[in-house]
Amino acid sequence: MAELSGAVVVFACSHRAGGNSDAAAELVARGVREAGGQVRVVALRDYAVLACLACRACAKDRDSACVLREKDQAEELFAILLSAPAVVFVSPIYFYALPSLCKTWIDRSQRFWEARRKGDAWLLELPERQAFACLVAGQASGQKLFEGARLTLRYFLVNFGISLAEPVGLRGLDERGDLLADPLAVDRALALGREAWAAAQGRPA
Ligand SMILES: Cc1cc2nc3c(=O)[nH]c(=O)nc-3n(C[C@H](O)[C@H](O)[C@H](O)COP(=O)(O)O)c2cc1C
Repeated sequence: MAELSGAVVVFACSHRAGGNSDAAAELVARGVREAGGQVRVVALRDYAVLACLACRACAKDRDSACVLREKDQAEELFAILLSAPAVVFVSPIYFYALPSLCKTWIDRSQRFWEARRKGDAWLLELPERQAFACLVAGQASGQKLFEGARLTLRYFLVNFGISLAEPVGLRGLDERGDLLADPLAVDRALALGREAWAAAQGRPA
């Protein structure tokens, strides 16, 4: 396993560069820095990730690897996830769910789910860590607007020994610039950065 590095990792999950979730990701990063921490923002759209083939090769035996591992950059992203002391997912909501780029990467983590099922010690012995999420949606209402994304993130991350805090859901943000024009949303994103840095150091915010 890679060593835990000092920097909080912020995964920016939007397909749109320079939109609301990129703005939120930068604010989260600013919150980390203002709290004295280090942070790295990773935009998923900069990585090529192929869809899981559901071939079940990773389920065969303890040493079986993903057949796609040499063909794309999914493993680079897993290495970043595995070495971060705390992570923040900043994502728009697409059709009540995570965007397909993000979900495609998450599906590729099936090999970790299989490894956990098989009781692989290296996975079971990962340090317990904390994840945070900032979810951005265009709609102003919708009781279950963030529920699909929350559940997917929760059950993805649990395979890495990472527990997901209750996500920050930001509503009514659709056009580029909407988030930066909303002082409450800006404050909540900054506060999430401070919280993530505190968690990275193993203390409450
Ligand atoms: C394909 C697609 C699907 C979307 N689905 C929803 C939705 O189900 N609910 C919602 O509130 N907003 C939805 N939106 C709006 C985005 O969540 C909103 O515009 C958000 O601010 C985009 O974040 P970004 O600027 O980081 O890309 C959707 C946008 C796109 C492009």
